[in-house]
Amino acid sequence: MTVIITGGAGFIGSNFIFHMLKKYPDYRIICLDKLTYAGNLSTLKSVMDNKNFRFVKADICDRETVCKLFEEERPDVVVNFAAESHVDRSIENPDVFLQTNIMGTSVLMDACRKYGITRYHQVSTDEVYGDLPLDRPDLFFTEETPIHTSSPYSASKASADLLVMAYHRTYGLSVTISRCSNNYGPYHFPEKLIPLIIANALNDKPLPVYGKGENIRDWLYVEDHCKAIDLIIHNGRVGEVYNIGGHNEMKNIDIVKLICRELNKPESLITYVADRKGHDMRYAIDPTKIHNELGWLPETKFADGIKKTIKWYLENREWWEEIISGEYRNYYERTYGNLNCYT
Ligand code: NAD
Ligand code: DAU
Repeated sequence: MTVIITGGAGFIGSNFIFHMLKKYPDYRIICLDKLTYAGNLSTLKSVMDNKNFRFVKADICDRETVCKLFEEERPDVVVNFAAESHVDRSIENPDVFLQTNIMGTSVLMDACRKYGITRYHQVSTDEVYGDLPLDRPDLFFTEETPIHTSSPYSASKASADLLVMAYHRTYGLSVTISRCSNNYGPYHFPEKLIPLIIANALNDKPLPVYGKGENIRDWLYVEDHCKAIDLIIHNGRVGEVYNIGGHNEMKNIDIVKLICRELNKPESLITYVADRKGHDMRYAIDPTKIHNELGWLPETKFADGIKKTIKWYLENREWWEEIISGEYRNYYERTYGNLNCYT
């Protein structure tokens, strides 16, 4: 089995590559990643010498290059993690979100049509459902919840989902989509809430909380997300959407306070800042479908997962300090030069 994993130098994609190489030592795994500001090749250094792994630096929007790779590798499965993923950046500049998240998805699916695959899997997000009100804790997102997006990021992801379903119906492409809640864990880029708060707290810097910090997210340990995608690509029904979530809703402010306690840092570091424009109030996933059909359940409790995550950031300071300093951008050139580089 040959699997192309796009966006594998980012947070969830890299964790998925580790999961796949460990669980399926006979699979050939190819990571296609543009190495944008969010891609960090040093994340993958432990697998770069694995004979069943290949890294290719390329843009999913580059049709010629994507087709060249498909021609060479003839993948059975494609799992698309590649995306611009940060909501705040999408509010500042939507353009690249539309390009990568929508056009890139169509380029990948065109290559899948041309060369034939057994499965194209789109890694989507619960943000396509918009948000839920704080005073209705009885409401959850199911796969039938209408698409109702708030940010340019979520609109671009929703557009991609619609395209994926259109390719299934029109061309018969064998697709699945997963819509997951907020992930946390190792290799999370320190512009996102949990790693940003950990890094700032460790450096005794202010901890920025948007608005009143009352927004709720449904946090899932990244390995549980990877296991869910593994189940979907192997056993999920073609043409189906699967929601993935931890039933673990928390207010932002409670997470920030918890991290302060774990690191023994004063809450006086917490700084309330201007709210995000269009800020979604609450996300909450109903994962009944993936549980009933594929037997998936989250395995890591938040209390354990956050401890493991904080420990990882303490033990891997170099990884996030290089990101904060900008030095990580030179890692590829320094270590690999033009090796395996299509651009
Ligand atoms: P990330 O920002 O950490 O990583 C994205 C990766 O994609 C990077 O390695 C980047 O270099 C690569 N990339 C970006 N544009 C590219 C392009 N044009 N061509 C090739 N590679 C490109 O993102 P993440 O948090 O790991 O999220 C991965 C996927 O999961 C995204 O599709 C995101 O929408 C989705 N998702 C994320 C979460 C979350 O909590 N982080 C939750 C649900 C779904
Ligand atoms: O729900 C899935 C989504 O989760 C993914 O699709 C996105 O790719 C991923 O980035 C994440 O989006 P969020 O916007 O929920 O994540 P973020 O870490 O940016 O913010 C989490 C919450 O914390 C949100 O309510 C905004 C708030 N926040 C964020 C930052 C960066 C703060 O209060 N302060 C901050 O500095």
